[in-house]
Amino acid sequence: MKAALLLCVLLYLNSAVNGGLTGNTVFFPQASANSYVKLIPLKPLSLDAFTLCLRLSVDPDVVNQPKRETILFAYRTQNFDELNVWQEKGKISFYLSNSDGALYSIPLLSVFRTNLCLTWESSTGLAAFWVDGKRSTLQVYRQGHRVQSGGAVLLGQDPDSYLGDFDINQSFVGEITDVNMWDSVLTGSQIRHFNEKEWVGPTANVLNWNTMQYEVKGNAIVAPEKYI
Ligand SMILES: *[C@@H]1O[C@H](CO)[C@@H](O)[C@H](O)[C@H]1NC(C)=O
Repeated sequence: MKAALLLCVLLYLNSAVNGGLTGNTVFFPQASANSYVKLIPLKPLSLDAFTLCLRLSVDPDVVNQPKRETILFAYRTQNFDELNVWQEKGKISFYLSNSDGALYSIPLLSVFRTNLCLTWESSTGLAAFWVDGKRSTLQVYRQGHRVQSGGAVLLGQDPDSYLGDFDINQSFVGEITDVNMWDSVLTGSQIRHFNEKEWVGPTANVLNWNTMQYEVKGNAIVAPEKYI
């Protein structure tokens, strides 16, 4: 009896947490306040530098409305939005730890896939977005800051509390794939290889689309490899 119960629990855990999304794209077909994918990092996000890369396409009729704020990536601890990436008010932006954001006038996301990377390092504060391998002008942002560990990484929703308080009007609508994060700033040459899907740089060691575990909630569709 106990063994059967244990088996049921194991089967349940197995269905809730999966490993690796190689070749998959996650599709959020419509705005919602309950659909998201939680990514389980390979190591705690205690970071004084990072490179975050992902590929995105959107429903522009929803996401590109002039007044809409759309979450692209969220990492939140119990009390703080530690690292959020947005498309908002005609710009792409990121925020570290509840402060004013760094906004970039770069091309908005579209119905076709964009390769988007973000690099930041604490020692200089230098931060840039990379769009299909092209780098934006640098900005200096949150020099001396450190991203804190102990939070949850979400795609699809902006949590205003830990894993909760989602706003349908900030939800992501479209597809996200190849979310990878490193604990260092990669070189332009390495980032351009991400763009071409010919990876030559160091293995992504914070988030790794090919190996990390994830949980899907609500109406987020993990589409198979043929759509990549
Ligand atoms: C979302 O936006 C629509 C249209 O602007 C508005 O009617 C609705 O109240 C908003 N919903 C929430 C939860 O803010």
